[in-house]
Amino acid sequence: MTTATHSSGTWQLGDRTVYRLGFGAMRLTGTGAFHNGTPRDRASSIAVVRRAVELGVNHIDTAAFYFSALRSANEIVNSALAAFPADEVLVATKVGPRRDRAGGWEGAARPEDLRGDVEQNLRELGRDHLDLVYLRNMRWDSLADHFSALAELREEGLIRNLGVSSVSAAQLHEARAIAPVVAVQNKFGLDDTDSVEVMRACGELGIAFVPFFAIAGARPGAEAAATATAAEADEDRAAKVAEAHGVSPQQIRLAWTLAQGPHVLAIPGTGDIAHLEANIAAGAIRLTHEDLALLG
Ligand SMILES: NC(=O)c1ccc[n+]([C@@H]2O[C@H](COP(=O)([O-])OP(=O)(O)OC[C@H]3O[C@@H](n4cnc5c(N)ncnc54)[C@H](OP(=O)(O)O)[C@@H]3O)[C@@H](O)[C@H]2O)c1
Repeated sequence: MTTATHSSGTWQLGDRTVYRLGFGAMRLTGTGAFHNGTPRDRASSIAVVRRAVELGVNHIDTAAFYFSALRSANEIVNSALAAFPADEVLVATKVGPRRDRAGGWEGAARPEDLRGDVEQNLRELGRDHLDLVYLRNMRWDSLADHFSALAELREEGLIRNLGVSSVSAAQLHEARAIAPVVAVQNKFGLDDTDSVEVMRACGELGIAFVPFFAIAGARPGAEAAATATAAEADEDRAAKVAEAHGVSPQQIRLAWTLAQGPHVLAIPGTGDIAHLEANIAAGAIRLTHEDLALLG
């Protein structure tokens, strides 16, 4: 069965080929405040992941620190993927941020914490190796000590591919000098283009650029008054283009993301099956030059 996931095209993500339209697991665990809100129904969240894979998604982004009081994104992904052949889906995870068992933010991992954090992901995902691990920058000036620790775990075979997240172009180059980087995951979207230079650098280097908050935009949680006016103007433009295509503004945001370059991958996050299907349908939307000019 050919689906809109396949229409999004493919990208060589390290040693694996993935469709450019993937899935973000952060919203599976709770509603409201990111992953940590009211726990979602476990069976529904598992069904969302399974539907994504049935529709061709073979790249899922998760993290051990995505959990609510009752749900763990890694546990849900592990359980959902048990229904499919091993290695059908590239599972990417992240280390850097740390939470205590009650869910509070503990701050940043030290380099010596990273082995334990990688092993936690291995246990929760039920794997012997991790396909892709991002070092999520925690406002470090230099990534060198942390990234070197992950590079060692890669040498040992615990990790197949490495990425970096929330980084500047200089930090990307710093990491690349230590070990190969196959992907950069930064916040980026229609109303949030601070990382445009990093995105372009990735394109030139043949590295995947994987934006987060492509749908949620610059105001994923609390309303930020300072950015509200600009974001509303972007929303109006997205709504106009959406109307012309007979789709939703969220789908236009995803289509715009995928139009930024063949190396740009989408990982929309949802715990809602109708939203998932809409997001996947966005893989087949082709924006015209006029649409892209209007969207800016
Ligand atoms: N590296 C990092 O620091 C970092 C930070 C944040 C996230 N991430 C990763 O990036 C992924 C994407 O980020 P995200 O999940 O926060 O944001 P997102 O994909 O930009 O947007 C998700 C939000 O939009 C809603 N939504 C999704 N599809 C929709 C649709 N078709 N129509 C209407 N609403 C829709 C979701 O609610 P519903 O659940 O109700 O659909 C949710 O509130 C995450 O899942 C995570 O894997 C990485």
